[in-house]
Amino acid sequence: MTSANSKIHILGIETSCDETGVAVVEDGRRILSSEVASQVPIHAAFGGVVPEIASRQHIKCISQLTHKALGDAGVEPARINAVAATIGPGLMGSLLVGVNFAKALAYAWKKSFVPVHHLEGHIFSPFLTDDPPQFPFLALVVSGGHTSLIDCPRPHEYHIIGATRDDAVGESFDKVARLLDLSYPGGPSIQKAAEQGNPEAIRFPRAMTTGAGLDFSYSGLKTAVLYELRKTTAPTKDVAASFQEAAVDVLVTKTRLALEQTGAARLVLAGGVAANRLLRDRLNAELHVPVHMPPMSLCVDNGAMIAAAGHSRFVHNLLGDLRATPNPNLPLA
Ligand code: KG4
Ligand code: ZN
Repeated sequence: MTSANSKIHILGIETSCDETGVAVVEDGRRILSSEVASQVPIHAAFGGVVPEIASRQHIKCISQLTHKALGDAGVEPARINAVAATIGPGLMGSLLVGVNFAKALAYAWKKSFVPVHHLEGHIFSPFLTDDPPQFPFLALVVSGGHTSLIDCPRPHEYHIIGATRDDAVGESFDKVARLLDLSYPGGPSIQKAAEQGNPEAIRFPRAMTTGAGLDFSYSGLKTAVLYELRKTTAPTKDVAASFQEAAVDVLVTKTRLALEQTGAARLVLAGGVAANRLLRDRLNAELHVPVHMPPMSLCVDNGAMIAAAGHSRFVHNLLGDLRATPNPNLPLA
């Protein structure tokens, strides 16, 4: 039982893709420990995530990371109130590792098990900063699998008002990086190449930005880069900068439109692509509402964001049970 003034500790576990994340978060706000084992160097040789390798890597390190997270936090299992884990979407084999590990701990420790949607985890990442957002807000979630504008009126209620019809924006960074012979993952390597490049060298298309719709399309941009590369003499840095400019331009335009249409008073930016410097700077400079974004360390997948979302679910009594199983295509709303 939790007495009125005792602190709530959530152990958060994230294994939906190629990062094993385990963290202890206090009262949904304070990170006591956060361990992330990235598999990027392992998958880089293949140019993308190999699902079978990903799940095996999670199995290898999850137990050790959990010991370390508990030790660094100085929190005994008896003082953990609930174990939260990403239940979907993601790679089935990877999700199974985290969910089964979390359920086993919850069973052994006689604690609650809290399943968390991966995007909900990302949306809660700015709550781990000194300036947490207040509900209601608009969220722009941009990752390797999602590009979504989500109206968030109150905790755990989500209305998706815009989403990609094909590729996610992070996916387009990854695919264009391959076309440019830049390393995986594409986001950071394109950003780095673009630093020295001219963003106006090539005018790439900004799909679906003329009407009032809030959906996105990124597959045409990738194809436009492919065709350009067949004829251009522009250096890689200029192609990278021009691609990044177009990709970010669409995100800024659609977010501005969504703010106008919803009247939302603040924006939450989250997901792996939230690490993009140009996107962060432009949203901060060009929107007329406060923008809450996670620090760089919480943009990539991590256990702390799952613990933060798990804390909110725990206090709202939105618990799971030990029969819960992962869903690789779990919808948010
Ligand atoms: O959220 P995340 O770690 O995993 C998913 O849930 O998908 O996001 C990974 C994505 C990758 O596509 C990666 O290329 C992209 O985030 N990314 C970036 C940057 N850092 C990571 N995209 C653009 N600029 C970056 N600096
Ligand atoms: Zn993610």
